[in-house]
Amino acid sequence: MKYYCYTMGDRSKLIVVALMALIAITTSVQPVQSANILGVFLSPSPSHIIVHMSIMKTLAEQGHNVTVVSGEKLKVTHENIHNIIIEPSEEHKRELEQELSAMGGKKQNDFELMLKFVMGNHVMTKIQYDALRNERFQSIYESKFDLVILGYFVNSFQFIVPAKLNCPVIISWTGPPMETVNRFVGVPPEITYVPSTFTPYKNGESLSFGFRMLNAFMSYTLHLFDAIMDNSFHSYYKTLAEGDPTIRSYSQMLANVSLVFCNSHFSEGPIRPLVPGLVEIGGIQIKEKPDPLPKELEKFLNASNKNGAILFSLGSNMKGSNIKPATIQILFKVLSSLEQNVIWKWEDLANTPGNASNIFYQKWLPQDDILAHPNLKLFITHAGKGGMVEATYHGVPMVAMPIFADQPLNAAKIVSSGYGTQVDILNLKEDDFRATILEVLNNPVYRNNVQKFAKLYPDRPLSARESVVYWVEYVLRHHGAAHMQSPLVRMNFIQSSGLDVFFAYFAILYALWRLAKLALANLCKLIRKVRESFKSKREKLKKQ
Ligand SMILES: *[C@@H]1O[C@H](CO)[C@@H](O)[C@H](O)[C@H]1NC(C)=O
Ligand SMILES: *[C@@H]1O[C@H](CO)[C@@H](O)[C@H](O)[C@H]1NC(C)=O
Repeated sequence: MKYYCYTMGDRSKLIVVALMALIAITTSVQPVQSANILGVFLSPSPSHIIVHMSIMKTLAEQGHNVTVVSGEKLKVTHENIHNIIIEPSEEHKRELEQELSAMGGKKQNDFELMLKFVMGNHVMTKIQYDALRNERFQSIYESKFDLVILGYFVNSFQFIVPAKLNCPVIISWTGPPMETVNRFVGVPPEITYVPSTFTPYKNGESLSFGFRMLNAFMSYTLHLFDAIMDNSFHSYYKTLAEGDPTIRSYSQMLANVSLVFCNSHFSEGPIRPLVPGLVEIGGIQIKEKPDPLPKELEKFLNASNKNGAILFSLGSNMKGSNIKPATIQILFKVLSSLEQNVIWKWEDLANTPGNASNIFYQKWLPQDDILAHPNLKLFITHAGKGGMVEATYHGVPMVAMPIFADQPLNAAKIVSSGYGTQVDILNLKEDDFRATILEVLNNPVYRNNVQKFAKLYPDRPLSARESVVYWVEYVLRHHGAAHMQSPLVRMNFIQSSGLDVFFAYFAILYALWRLAKLALANLCKLIRKVRESFKSKREKLKKQ
């Protein structure tokens, strides 16, 4: 092309370019016409909704007709997004609130909590199950959809929705690839070198025998939990499917997932093999260009140009009222004594922890836009996945205060990557807290580490948003992605881990060994017999 252009006149150059452009248009993939896409995001966790809605907003902006079912009114709005709200019952709202406040006050009973989740009895599951049974949900089945996107969190019975609508399904998972979702597209569980979700592991650490023993245990345990959960969810699914004998079975639907979107990226490590059905869209919730800040916040941050500003937020689940008053007092004492300005996420503006000229309380914060501000020097966080990614994206070092769920692991990751340090919020000491803050503010090593990562993370062939558009439209164009499915999806544990083959070979080798031994013994016996007969013959001859 280039060669021809050099040797041709201007006009013919133009014609060739126009022709090439025409060919490019006609042979490249056709853009998908506006599709009807349903999002089911009933998990009562605002941080999950933020990630799922970033996907939906991207699709709405692309011109698709998006419908979203959620437990509360969506914060994200767009003319192409229609919101159907099915609120949890008052009783369930109270139960959820109680659970969260128990977590903020004391070390909760992890075992009991885990048992509730595994048995499919947790309030997070109950809320989602109730919503699917709600009358308002039934009207959804009267519309036609081209694709369903399910927000995935302890809710496999939701496969009833694509089953009833008879359309392809994509899963949106807010974390890195994990056993629970990997199985839908057949990401291989490489337990000898890929750390399982709950195995404590730092990037680059040696894969010792001890690690591999622990990792196998964690991975098998998660598989076992999934199996137990599936048992409950299967019966929920059957109840939801009642009255429709033609509907596909639960296990058929588990093998019907076209794609899993994971909100992670390999540059965060650890490295693992992925299949094409698992698409990494890490950082989808982060705007490439920050929105303008609310006036007051902007003024406050701009005025912090001398000593910088700190953002303090314990996330969207944990409210100030869930934390022990004594802890709040320590937080206030330390933060109000700093030279830096502090933006503190606090719900009850009528009852703040105290007044200080350097503290700005705000109920709801545009966290991502604040972290993007050049005067922001430190993020004090509960180490939720979302905030952690935003901070690393913008190169802001952190002090982590993990409370529950994946937060302790995220905090450990912040520390091991050198992006900051952590403190124990359930056991907070004033001096420790102050020293930790000053260390991260004043020691440049944390900022350097996190800024290095901030350059690495967005370096990809397709941005998170472009990946969403490309892969969703790919599934729409081809009416699902069954051709992309790994055979692993349909294999059971014994088959996929190769145990049956291993034991078969073991049995064959054992049988061969026994056979060889038998043959050898018989051969020896034979030789002995022959020798003895020779010997007796010889003796007989001698005697004669
Ligand atoms: C868009 O989706 C809504 C359902 O939420 C539906 O009522 C409407 O007809 C759809 N619009 C088009 C153009 O298909
Ligand atoms: C799931 O089912 C839908 C609807 O029948 C189909 O279009 C799609 O290709 C299936 N996907 C997979 C991965 O089997």
